[in-house]
Amino acid sequence: MNKESVKIFDTTLRDGEQVPGCKLNTAQKVVIAEKLENLGVDVIEAGFPVSSPGDFNSVLEITKIIKDTTVCALSRAVENDIKVAGEALKYAKFPRIHTGIGTSDSHIKHKFNSTREKIIETGYNAVKYAKTFVEDVEFYAEDAGRTDNAFLAKVCEKMIEAGATVLNIPDTTGYCLPEDYGNKIKYLFENVKNIDKATVSCHCHNDLGLATANSIAAIANGARQIECTINGIGERAGNTSLEEVVMIMKQHNSLNLDTNIDTKLLYETSLLVSESMGMMVQPNKAIVGANAFSHSSGIHQDGVIKNRLTYEIIDPFDVGVNKSSIILTARSGRSALAYRAKLVGFELSKDELDLVYPEFLKFADNNKSVLDKDIPEIINNIL
Ligand code: KIV
Ligand code: ZN
Repeated sequence: MNKESVKIFDTTLRDGEQVPGCKLNTAQKVVIAEKLENLGVDVIEAGFPVSSPGDFNSVLEITKIIKDTTVCALSRAVENDIKVAGEALKYAKFPRIHTGIGTSDSHIKHKFNSTREKIIETGYNAVKYAKTFVEDVEFYAEDAGRTDNAFLAKVCEKMIEAGATVLNIPDTTGYCLPEDYGNKIKYLFENVKNIDKATVSCHCHNDLGLATANSIAAIANGARQIECTINGIGERAGNTSLEEVVMIMKQHNSLNLDTNIDTKLLYETSLLVSESMGMMVQPNKAIVGANAFSHSSGIHQDGVIKNRLTYEIIDPFDVGVNKSSIILTARSGRSALAYRAKLVGFELSKDELDLVYPEFLKFADNNKSVLDKDIPEIINNIL
């Protein structure tokens, strides 16, 4: 059965770059944008052009080198923002303006001191105005996660009427539970007139560590675009991690969903982003962390050496990692020691292994891990 396609909207260069200390210059952004196009993302959110001349220039330069991918620019529901976004996208082959406004009662009262009716009117006018620059206009209902569903449905209906091609339903504060966020998307499909005329998009933040789970709940309920970043970087606790949602779809056939991502490029893309931003990836990060394919406890190592599938649900080659690693620590067993010793040229018999193993444990207890260079020394001490 043919899988349905989910579009990947990458916002590493916009929401991701909002991380303090991770600012990129135009040249770095261009390199990352090219990499994202090779990776196969469907949309690159290149920046927020009105925010600074540097960001405007980055968006402009990115549009010049990107060939087949939609390039998107962010704006508030403010005429000048939209005009500047339109100018920054003038060379794009497939331009998209992403405009919107806060729709939760908290945003309406505290940010805008406004009313629900006025918010709809402002959003409607913003979409209409953006349509004078580009055909492809995405509307974001900021803080949709905490917006009343009935009002959100009204907002969406009106934005479709204004010509929005994509409706972004952000969980801006990372507040939602997966079931509630999934039900919100379902509610929109059941209650918004002409919902089939737009793509519904999810944009989740990770304040409670639920961004990936919420994005999966959204696509399980009909959303067909995920907004995400490489390594899950972004405001506060970050955004949905691109590599996680892509691999979830790849590993779980029951979802019957797929993306255009060339997963073999995930690891090198992750490295490029972390090196360019000077932002280290946590070692236990799913898919791209240094330990994602490392095994250090004896029970797991024994299993993996016998058959990788005992403890690995993803083939490291599928994400561009060359091999799984057997890390030697004081928790490692004899089979791991024999395996690593063989890699550095020592084929140990059972009796030899029995002799060397206690010496190995002594060394490992005094060191965080045992490196290739330590193995001959441990063996030669005993044999
Ligand atoms: O989190 C959010 O609501 C956003 C919007 C600007 C799309 O990043
Ligand atoms: Zn965001």
